[in-house]
Amino acid sequence: MRNRVEVLHGVNLDMLGRRNPEHYGMITLPELEVRIKRYAHELGLEVAFFDTNNEGEFVEYLHRLPEIADAALVNAGAWTHYSYAIRDALEIARVPAVEVHLSDVQSREEWRRVSVFEGLVVGVVSGKGPEGYREALQMLKGALG
Ligand code: DQA
Repeated sequence: MRNRVEVLHGVNLDMLGRRNPEHYGMITLPELEVRIKRYAHELGLEVAFFDTNNEGEFVEYLHRLPEIADAALVNAGAWTHYSYAIRDALEIARVPAVEVHLSDVQSREEWRRVSVFEGLVVGVVSGKGPEGYREALQMLKGALG
């Protein structure tokens, strides 16, 4: 059964709870992971979590991803907007991926409207807070068939 989803959080997401609450709310990353785990189990998906502030570590984790997961849910933080190294690594991983943002990146600064993952991911969810992760998991479930 293909139901293993890896949830990857990138740079500064470990600072949730201390970041601008207007955009990110007050939820911490451990609390968010508990929510995501609940959503996943409701959908019959297995989830595992990884987070780092180190771009190279994120890339190396993506290299190993096909061995440990069937799909990826990615919130790469600011790397989303400029890291071609992470885009290439996600392409190498060749697993269905959905990009998620807690905040509405389209209605913030101009530079946040760009995503290096465009054309690579099966969906994007933005601006729906923690609930957006449920939607992203639903998309991945659909992609896994
Ligand atoms: C974010 C949006 C990014 O623009 C920002 O750099 C983040 C978080 C989000 O979840 O809304 O770190 O990915």
